[in-house]
Amino acid sequence: MTTLSRATLDQLLDDLAEQGWAIVANALPADLTLELAQECRARANQGALQPAGVGRGSAHGVQEGVRGDHIQWLEPGQCAAGDRYLAMLDDLRGQLNQALYLGLEDYEGHFALYPPGTFYQKHLDRFRDDDRRAVSAVFYLNSDWLPEQGGALRLYLADGRELDVLPDAGTLVVFLSADLPHEVLPATRERLSLTGWLRRRGNSPL
Ligand code: OGA
Ligand code: MN
Repeated sequence: MTTLSRATLDQLLDDLAEQGWAIVANALPADLTLELAQECRARANQGALQPAGVGRGSAHGVQEGVRGDHIQWLEPGQCAAGDRYLAMLDDLRGQLNQALYLGLEDYEGHFALYPPGTFYQKHLDRFRDDDRRAVSAVFYLNSDWLPEQGGALRLYLADGRELDVLPDAGTLVVFLSADLPHEVLPATRERLSLTGWLRRRGNSPL
């Protein structure tokens, strides 16, 4: 089974508890990261990725001035690499519940591809009418990313600092969905990721 190493998990749990975010480089075996990147590219080449929407219910729609990524949801049973990734996240879910009593019940996530020049404006990952998303987890799939290529994830920390994270292959960023505003800066090359959320039980009537 694919899991994060014990040392990586302990650091991640400490950081998340103390500061509300954690960054792990080389989180997964390189062969799995490469397979996930190939899967994302294959889906893009097949035309399976669709422009991502903004908002929920009747307010839902594509707004390229807000976010310009193309996405497809990752479901169990679609591909071996995807299933290994889902297994890792399910393990992480259990560890977060054990250590931090978060009561996380499930995961939803998608492949995302940002074409050059596209971005995602500053936002929070929790919908006004749906507070199930508790922990955001973004895993990057881009080999040899250079700072001058842009495309950083910019985190707006509680102490007023801004922290830019490069979307380099193997980097996993985890943060509390309700607390941490963030944005995706435009890049000069395609930017691939697997982005998702560990969710609590819903308490909003739909
Ligand atoms: C998102 C998001 C961050 C990233 O999809 O909500 O903030 O670095 N993604 O891709
Ligand atoms: Mn987000």
